[in-house]
Amino acid sequence: MLDGKRILLIIGGGIAAYKSLELARLIRRRGGEVRAILTKAGQEFVTPLSVGGLTHDKVYTDLFDLTAEADMGHIQLSRDADLLVVCPATADLMAKIAHGRADDMASTALLATDKPVMIVPAMNVRMWEHAATQRNLAQLIADGVSVVGPTEGSMACGEFGPGRLVEPDEIVEAIEAKLGGTQLLAGRKAIVTAGPTHEPIDPVRYIANRSSGKQGYAIAEALALLGADTHLVSGPTALGDPRGVKITRVETAREMLAATEAALPADIAICAAAVADWRADTSTNSKLKKDGSGAVPPLSLVENPDILATLSAAGPKRPQLVVGFAAETDDVIDHATAKRVRKGCDWIVANDVSPGTGIMGGDNNTVHIITDGAAEHWDPMPKAQVATKLAERVALALTS
Ligand code: C5P
Repeated sequence: MLDGKRILLIIGGGIAAYKSLELARLIRRRGGEVRAILTKAGQEFVTPLSVGGLTHDKVYTDLFDLTAEADMGHIQLSRDADLLVVCPATADLMAKIAHGRADDMASTALLATDKPVMIVPAMNVRMWEHAATQRNLAQLIADGVSVVGPTEGSMACGEFGPGRLVEPDEIVEAIEAKLGGTQLLAGRKAIVTAGPTHEPIDPVRYIANRSSGKQGYAIAEALALLGADTHLVSGPTALGDPRGVKITRVETAREMLAATEAALPADIAICAAAVADWRADTSTNSKLKKDGSGAVPPLSLVENPDILATLSAAGPKRPQLVVGFAAETDDVIDHATAKRVRKGCDWIVANDVSPGTGIMGGDNNTVHIITDGAAEHWDPMPKAQVATKLAERVALALTS
């Protein structure tokens, strides 16, 4: 429920704008209050009259409307809300927010706010996939904006692909989760591993991999948003600390295992880290030297401990739900299904990290959730959204 929560709904100019009317109705039905800003382009798709009819409030349309300013200034408008929801978020609105533009009522309210912002993108698939939009998306996520969707399907323009607005009932669920209306994981403890590990060869060289840590960090934040007491054990990444999460930063697989075991007991463990399978057993405290003879130093490897398998077999300390990841380049589902059994975990989140997918290090992910005997395929979506969906799925599993 959204009892008494105040949503500032910013309606952009896209064919999906009509769905924001349904969203306003659902928010009110769940006890929330809605105040709406309709952009100039938005007015081409829905009228202030129909929006006002559903929000039961004045609809704000123009920064330079002096009556509106006297009534409720744009700064007050954004400060008064618990959450700003941009729906539909067009490519143009996303660009404006990402660049901090403030040339109309909507963008000014978005720049003036100190409240959380959620965007629900909807646009033509080519516009969504354009490098500029993806750049803006990455910036918005880095700025802490929550992104809901888009989903994949056939679009009003006749094309097929990602770009469709998420259905209003799912948007309301995301709003509820964001506002902590549903602290489904309150009282639960979660451990998340993320990022790569660095395995030293000598004091200056190490073995590493391309993991950015983005997915694991997003999962830690999503679990914390649902109320879980969350401890992130992270390998070396370029990411800042996620909000509301305790973080321990480590370098090697062995350090990651030690930090993870020290964080037990926990109800949930999500192992998203790309742990190096092997480390150099020749690691030395002095730098290896090239002597000009053409001789190469022997590099022999030894196996690292498997953190996921260790947690899965932790006896009485085993978390109730242990989730692993499987980054595969071929036969993704088959390999991931076998991995679930081999590691002894409950679920595997599988993804295809072949070159060209852009998943490793990128902002989007396409995952398959392998549970006991079933594989569920999720549409391509931003990693932040995979995290939210996964956290909700975890909460459901623990409470049902
Ligand atoms: O065997 P593979 O590396 O593909 O398994 C991936 C899953 O196992 C991920 O969840 C990863 O975090 C976990 N893992 C681990 N410790 C290792 C290797 C992988 O926890 N040494």
